[in-house]
Amino acid sequence: MATQLVVDIHTHVYPPSYLAMLRARKTVPYVHDPAEGEPRLIILSSDDDPATPLDQRGRPVDTSYSDINVKLAFMEKHGIHCSVISLANPWLDFVPSPEAQQWAERINNDLDSTCAQVNQTSDPEGTKSATEKQTLFAFGALPLSAPSSVVVEEIKRLSTLPNIRGVIMGTSGLGKGLDDPALDAIWKALEETQLLLFLHPHYGLPDEAFGGPEAVSRYGHVLPLALGFPLETTIAVTRMLLSGVFDRFQELRVLLAHSGGTLPFLAGRIESCIMHERKFVVNGGDEPGPQRSIWDVLQTNIYLDAVIYGSAGLQAAVAAGSHDRLMFGTDHPFFPPLQDEDEKWPSVTTNYKAIRSCFGEEKADSIGMVLGSNANRVLKLGLE
Ligand code: URA
Ligand code: ZN
Repeated sequence: MATQLVVDIHTHVYPPSYLAMLRARKTVPYVHDPAEGEPRLIILSSDDDPATPLDQRGRPVDTSYSDINVKLAFMEKHGIHCSVISLANPWLDFVPSPEAQQWAERINNDLDSTCAQVNQTSDPEGTKSATEKQTLFAFGALPLSAPSSVVVEEIKRLSTLPNIRGVIMGTSGLGKGLDDPALDAIWKALEETQLLLFLHPHYGLPDEAFGGPEAVSRYGHVLPLALGFPLETTIAVTRMLLSGVFDRFQELRVLLAHSGGTLPFLAGRIESCIMHERKFVVNGGDEPGPQRSIWDVLQTNIYLDAVIYGSAGLQAAVAAGSHDRLMFGTDHPFFPPLQDEDEKWPSVTTNYKAIRSCFGEEKADSIGMVLGSNANRVLKLGLE
């Protein structure tokens, strides 16, 4: 039997130049180098609790975050043939406007050339099949603190780089969220280039939603990552829908992180609330609501990753979208094993298991689509 192609579309890197920039900073996001032990990555606002000693804030950051050879070894260990790498959060959101364009070009050129170099080394003659070699592609980062014309220019440039297949973006947009009309030029450029927009959370919810900073730090990253991240994504994409982004840009393609946050589970409720407010009449306003239904958008514009660690969540993703719009991911290098560094990562094996149990052995075709062939088709990877 032929080996099943496995493509990881949710896997991050911090290029060394980016980590050097974080090392030079003292406010979130930053890297702290303790006198002893591993450096600490402090990127979430909840990481930077003054009550926690600096050497214990955030999380340890090792070479898995920046060394592409460590990524390749991780792929090998977990049976992954191709990875679509992306800069991890918070991307370039915090970079001062005048420097943003230069940073985006530097990071994106670095991602593209890393892919080229790995692909060349892995198959110098160009004769191997997709499952006999390691292949990398990338999602580019956007200079979102710069004027939107600069962002549009970078999107157009990205569409000419051979290994770039989309862009990764957080939920703040140009600073006012994703229902900001100033983003229209960016949606248009993404639509025209057909680059996939990978929408990924970073900011979570305010600490107050979880009982305040003390409660958040008591439970480590659980509340911000398990609940804050998915709700952030859900709110962001719902604001896009409500403001008519998917009515105006019907060819826009969006990949939602973590199986859409809670969107598949809440889609019916969102649609019902919209139906009862087709015109937003609250406060005497008379704004028309979105024209297309959320179900239509889920089945034409939205793709979901399969990074949800359980078959209940995956079933919701399949029911709301479709098995041919769902793609395997790992979120590497986040969520490493806590004990044995040599073992397979539970965060990865849990996702493999959830995919298998969601479809069952009799639907091997669907499993194959989620593991690799959907990504190959959607991102035009050309893997054979
Ligand atoms: N996964 C991410 O991509 N980013 C985080 O900060 C944590 C988990
Ligand atoms: Zn991620």
